[in-house]
Amino acid sequence: MTAVPPHIPGAESIGDPDTGTLGEHTARQLLRLGGIAGLSATDSKVYARTLVEALGPVADRPLRLPPADDSFISDDHTPVEFSLSFEPGTAPTLRVLLEPGAGAPDPAENGRTGLRVLRRLADRWGFSTGRLDELEDLFFPPAPKGPLALWCALELRPGGVPRVKAYLNPAANGAKNAARTVRKALKRLGHRHAFKSLPDGDRHLFFALDLGDWAEPRVKVYLAHQELSAPQAAGLTQMADGPDAGEIEEFLRITTGADGDGVTGPDAGADGRPARRLMRRPLQSCHAFTDRQTSLPTGFTLYVPVRDHLPHDGEALARATDLLKRYGMDPAPLHHALAAVTSRQPEDGVGLVAYLGLAHQEGRPPRIMTYISSEAYEVRPPAVPRAEAAAVAGR
Ligand code: TRP
Repeated sequence: MTAVPPHIPGAESIGDPDTGTLGEHTARQLLRLGGIAGLSATDSKVYARTLVEALGPVADRPLRLPPADDSFISDDHTPVEFSLSFEPGTAPTLRVLLEPGAGAPDPAENGRTGLRVLRRLADRWGFSTGRLDELEDLFFPPAPKGPLALWCALELRPGGVPRVKAYLNPAANGAKNAARTVRKALKRLGHRHAFKSLPDGDRHLFFALDLGDWAEPRVKVYLAHQELSAPQAAGLTQMADGPDAGEIEEFLRITTGADGDGVTGPDAGADGRPARRLMRRPLQSCHAFTDRQTSLPTGFTLYVPVRDHLPHDGEALARATDLLKRYGMDPAPLHHALAAVTSRQPEDGVGLVAYLGLAHQEGRPPRIMTYISSEAYEVRPPAVPRAEAAAVAGR
């Protein structure tokens, strides 16, 4: 049982881990991040309120209680994750990913809650959920399986009206049916031959839809790749103006420290034994389709779970800084963002920076995505580098 700390009158500052709620904690993080991303105080407040409303009852859950369920959004099961998307010459865009059905009694109810919340957002902002409605029977069976039912991401642009994305679970009908579900869903949305331009992957992770006011709404398929060399990673995309092998190799070298054909990094586990490699999360690729005339993707993103490759967030931040500079982007907002979500030092944990991503989309300059954990519940301790662990063991 979780011990309830004594109530200390006057100590209930917003987001205080002992007395605050999940909603207060994440709303405060969003307010601070909004300023860093160049949003007005009014817009940030509207978005913070939207986040809390979309979370529903779990927003009121005190942080001294454990997470309501094992949300797959983040490692400590906070059902919220922030990200900054960087583009040259402008302030980064703040996004928030959330699980509206977090805390639901079962996956079916989780999915129903997610749909209800998305439709409410659509009513409020006057966009259509038509494309999602068309897929409801494929992704929301009576007894869904898998690590999520529905996630929603809000792109928090100036003006108080976000762009919205829905993330669905290809394995809702069981992992062995995931590929078939993706193929059917693509087809139903008019991307008749898109499925065959997807590369091989180890698993279909997410099926995502842009909803709302997008210039070119995308349908996106996310694949997991357990072991991948840099040349293999570079060969994953069929998009016309995609990244070349050199660019992908450099991205992997900067983000993981790999120097050649393998994605390597500190292999030592916390006990110094080289066990981590097999436990690493996979690389992920995302293939975006906008054009129904051709079957080819118009967007490609590669994601590296840097938290499984680097010993602590100090190194993740240093590598993200190198990467942003390499693309002519200002890394200062990322430094400010980490300080805005936590008072801990980056070196004192790993996973605050969950992923780094490199996105190519037709007609746009490349973007760098940085995923920032809320850490509402837990900080993963830094990994002990192998040399240090050996020195400790040999003492
Ligand atoms: N937490 C999950 C994972 O690590 C899903 C996820 C959250 C994710 N944010 C992401 C996956 C960003 C890719 C990129 O896989």
